[in-house]
Amino acid sequence: MARRAEARVIREQSGEEVRVELGPRSYPVVVAAGVLAESGPRLAAAGFGGRCALVTSERVGALYREPVLASLRAAGFAPAVIEIPDGEEHKNLAWLAVLYDRLLEAGIERHSALVALGGGVVTDLAGFAAATLLRGLPSVLLPTTLLGQIDAAIGGKTGVNHVLGKNLIGAFHQPRLVLADVDTLRTLPRRELLAGVAEVIKTAAIGDAGLFAELEERLERVIGLEREVIVPVVAACVRYKARVVAEDEQEVHGGRAVLNFGHTVGHALEALTGYKELRHGEAVAIGRPLPGGDRRAPGGAPQAGGPADRYTVGPHARGARARHAVRQEVGRGAHPLRVSRGDRPNGVRGALG
Ligand SMILES: NC(=O)c1ccc[n+]([C@@H]2O[C@H](COP(=O)([O-])OP(=O)(O)OC[C@H]3O[C@@H](n4cnc5c(N)ncnc54)[C@H](O)[C@@H]3O)[C@@H](O)[C@H]2O)c1
Repeated sequence: MARRAEARVIREQSGEEVRVELGPRSYPVVVAAGVLAESGPRLAAAGFGGRCALVTSERVGALYREPVLASLRAAGFAPAVIEIPDGEEHKNLAWLAVLYDRLLEAGIERHSALVALGGGVVTDLAGFAAATLLRGLPSVLLPTTLLGQIDAAIGGKTGVNHVLGKNLIGAFHQPRLVLADVDTLRTLPRRELLAGVAEVIKTAAIGDAGLFAELEERLERVIGLEREVIVPVVAACVRYKARVVAEDEQEVHGGRAVLNFGHTVGHALEALTGYKELRHGEAVAIGRPLPGGDRRAPGGAPQAGGPADRYTVGPHARGARARHAVRQEVGRGAHPLRVSRGDRPNGVRGALG
């Protein structure tokens, strides 16, 4: 009975707005189907106008640039489009410098909106450009991956990678507005979608028992991206992250560290595989011990015989390279894994990864 009542946290509806409450830096996150086509009026309502920049990747731009541009132009904006190549390997200082050049060449000024359209790579890189160029530009994020919608676009962490590690150069810079269009998830490669679903499950496991119960019943409908299910699931995850961020905006008190569940081993695995073989969500899912010792991502990914099988580590890290990489992450201040077998979701004690 209790489980049935909890399961009602997912209400079937077509759009939700979640507010990230940070005093003067508060902002809304709109989760809805088709909201990209409303970018122009929503930016105008947020107080923007005139020149703006749309930063995207080649792949995402080809899919979603046009509806965003059409909406911006119809609302009176003059958008400049800047595309960066696809992939984590371009989230670095070299491409940041290119982005600075193109933004300045496009005549972007202090109050121009920098609109980032894409996955976490684009929103992290463009967000950091917004945090630093002209001593700070307002940013609007249009995340197009599930990981981006529930995690990377929420909370103001921006940055780029350094050869010595991921996200070592960055800044906290809250966006002014986030528009999460769940329809964009339909074109995601299945592997990216499942990496995002792993993050959804992480969120439910660390902070939302009702969502976890619901996922147990409706995971296939979530993976199937049924609008009436995916909108409230994304909104529930955004709501949870917004709460954690509101309590500890800049990771001063350690509250935000709970979001790093699975990251000690996950980041080590990403570094170990040159940021090429594993998706971030996959690496973190593998690094996250689940009850019963199953460290695979949900929905059957990564597949049998794939990276998950070869890099299964967790608290029983196998191989000198894996152990070394994990030690480096721990040395950086990440928390070692301390999950005992049989711990329940939401009852996970000290389960920071
Ligand atoms: N700032 C934060 O708080 C935070 C949190 C978590 C992760 N991150 C960062 O996010 C990055 C990972 O983000 P990601 O998983 O979104 O990966 P990503 O940005 O690399 O996107 C994954 C792939 O999907 C493609 N893609 C994106 N949207 C698409 C769509 N709608 N249809 C088809 N293809 C699409 C991209 O072009 C890319 O090839 C990492 O760099 C990680 O460090 C940041």
